[in-house]
Amino acid sequence: MRVDVAFTPDEAGAAPTGIVIDVIRATTTMCQALASGYERVFCTAEVEDARTLREELGEGVLGGERNAVRIPGFDLGNSPREYLEPLGETLILSTTNGTRAVVSAARSCERVLVGSLLNLTAVVEQAREAREDAIVVCAGVQSTLALDDAYVAGRIVELLGWERTDASEAAARLAGTWSGAEEAFRLSKSGRNLLENAPELEEDLPFCARESVLEVVPRLVAVRDSAAEISL
Ligand code: MLT
Repeated sequence: MRVDVAFTPDEAGAAPTGIVIDVIRATTTMCQALASGYERVFCTAEVEDARTLREELGEGVLGGERNAVRIPGFDLGNSPREYLEPLGETLILSTTNGTRAVVSAARSCERVLVGSLLNLTAVVEQAREAREDAIVVCAGVQSTLALDDAYVAGRIVELLGWERTDASEAAARLAGTWSGAEEAFRLSKSGRNLLENAPELEEDLPFCARESVLEVVPRLVAVRDSAAEISL
């Protein structure tokens, strides 16, 4: 089996299994929300799509960010620490890069898994059980490589132990250059964006850096209009 890495969603080719990573913070938030008791998360690229979907469904907690802060009129932001208790069954999430990456992977991968450090071991095991080639799709930051996602991609590549492409080899080597996740996070564009725009959320960085503390593996279960529905 072979594992590839796309450092941005635009680079991602088709693959049987896609593992989407936006560790700061969208995929961490999705993992935490589903582990806490939300039944489903609808990922929408655009804010208006999230609002429209809530109107259509007649229910749903609206969550998400632009420039790291809560979207006006939304119930919650994108801090995974806001999702420790469910406020309903359905979460409708829209973030700058992460929800867009899930929507994009839904178009090119037969099976889409949502990964973060929180569920690192569990997502690797799930990909291994699928016994098909995989691509780790990093959300990045506005179509550019982000070091935080590249770090997690490298960790997944190492743990899978499969044949590597040049990109997955690069991710694994990069991950080995830091003392740990938090160092990579603080250096990354995503981490710096968070600290610049929402310094009061600094604690999100160590929260997102915790490894294999959740057993959940969110997966794509349906696509509804422009939204990707994920669930356990
Ligand atoms: C994103 O989707 O770009 C991120 O989750 C950004 C953030 O957490 O603020």
